[in-house]
Amino acid sequence: MSDPLKVGVVISGRGSNLQALLDACNAAGFPADIVLVISNNPDVEGLRRAERAGVATETINHRDFDDRQSFERALTASMERAGAEIICHAGFMRIVTAEYLAHWHDRLINIHPSLLPAFPGLDTHQRALDAGVKLHGCTVHYVREEVDVGPIIGQAAVPVLDDDSEESLAARVLGAEHQLYPLCLKLVAEGRVKVEGDTATIKSAEGADSQILLSPAH
Ligand code: GRF
Repeated sequence: MSDPLKVGVVISGRGSNLQALLDACNAAGFPADIVLVISNNPDVEGLRRAERAGVATETINHRDFDDRQSFERALTASMERAGAEIICHAGFMRIVTAEYLAHWHDRLINIHPSLLPAFPGLDTHQRALDAGVKLHGCTVHYVREEVDVGPIIGQAAVPVLDDDSEESLAARVLGAEHQLYPLCLKLVAEGRVKVEGDTATIKSAEGADSQILLSPAH
């Protein structure tokens, strides 16, 4: 791994998590650099965010390919040309295949809007409201074959309030996402995340292992 770590980000749309990563990487001394942003959808806000930050972008439209593998091979080839050492999925809304996962094994991370293993999949905020949970949040994890499963790097919790709507809860979680993703990328870039089997541990600056619990103000 180089210093700063060269990161590729894959998006599908709005790119607010990408923005949080761009802002973090722009700060002096941050141990990672975004070398390329790829979107599978053309003309999305996330691409404009990257352009504004002066970061290279590509659209690789999955609809232009016969199957998932050829789309992913194109994506991997572009990322490698750009020198990306790890990939961050940030609101990338495609299922990926075993071949792509094997290629980027332990070099591919994702953010999911729930406290995994609760609420994998879609509609996490409405499902959290329906279940009556009092804490909800987000998770950054290494990607494995099963959807929204993989060694957890960090989680951020937010309260669920009695009068929350899906929108108000989503907004609170999104604020937490924007703090959590850069923090987790920093830990990875500093080489402080150790993956063993299904779990990841974080080496603290002092050398002890600890879990990250981030509870942003609400
Ligand atoms: C985020 O909630 C992320 O957790 C989920 O998709 C959403 C993407 O939002 N995977 P944005 O594109 O980063 O604004």
